[in-house]
Amino acid sequence: THCLLIGAPVDTGQRRPGCLMGPAAYRTAGLAPALEALGHRVTDLGDAACTPVPATVTNPAVHHLPETLGWARSLAAMGEAAMAEGMPIFLGGDHSLSLGSVAGVAAAAQARGRPLFVLWLDAHSDFHTTATTESGNLHGTPVAYLAGRDFEAFPPFPAPVPPENICLFGIRSVDAAEHAALLEHEIAINDMRVLDERGVVAPLREFLALVEEADGLLHVSLDVDFLDPVVAPAVGTTVPGGATFREAHLVMELLHESGRVTSLDLVELNPFLDERGRTAHLMVDLVASLMGKKVFDRPTRAYRGQ
Ligand code: ARG
Ligand code: MN
Ligand code: MN
Ligand code: MN
Repeated sequence: THCLLIGAPVDTGQRRPGCLMGPAAYRTAGLAPALEALGHRVTDLGDAACTPVPATVTNPAVHHLPETLGWARSLAAMGEAAMAEGMPIFLGGDHSLSLGSVAGVAAAAQARGRPLFVLWLDAHSDFHTTATTESGNLHGTPVAYLAGRDFEAFPPFPAPVPPENICLFGIRSVDAAEHAALLEHEIAINDMRVLDERGVVAPLREFLALVEEADGLLHVSLDVDFLDPVVAPAVGTTVPGGATFREAHLVMELLHESGRVTSLDLVELNPFLDERGRTAHLMVDLVASLMGKKVFDRPTRAYRGQ
């Protein structure tokens, strides 16, 4: 695979400074050599730039709107162009970067006439609109945007992703307004209640089967807080009870075996909160699993006991 690294030092979608150091941390932790060691070609496109877009919304809580719109615009353009060359990997940056990354990927999918699927690995559902967010933090909004919900100030999402093509995975923190809106959409909600009972394998295979059946493209958005804070402390919005080290690697291995992943976001890493780079290293190791690293190479059916 030709991997195109797109630095997205986005810090405006929430209030705690530090996510802007994310791209540098991934480079320092050795993301490019880890991918090259697996036989992939890597092009680092450097960091995106932000030209703020003047705009206002009625909700007074919303902050840094022009900056966040500026990031979204430039990341969408870079992402769409990168889709023509290979697999864009967005190095965040807070989760508001996905307002741009997924828009670019969706435009590329539409141009190819292929359906887009989105796997959201996150403690949060990020299903607020600019109207419902109480924190005003736009990192809590990208799923609503890509699902085509009403958004003030943002350009209409190119080819909104149908709710049944969206899978939330690992969620354990949902605000009341998000909860109400989610009940009106056919989005697969694999919250921790589901994962504790069924494990990660069955629900993920169900979703991947839909992607396969539709011959779809798959965008994966990996929020650091999907992981349990015990293994991944470098994030501003920790929620206890997250995915374990082993569950996260298993998810990545299943994604690799599916052969379906065509773009990836790495978001919410705040290196200022890290402990000797352990979270950055774990994220790099998870990307390696997603891109084919395994302990021992067996045919897929061997894992299923067939
Ligand atoms: N729902 C909360 C909010 O709107 C938390 C969002 C956290 N999102 C994230 N990408 N970490 O403020
Ligand atoms: Mn290293
Ligand atoms: Mn998130
Ligand atoms: Mn989150």
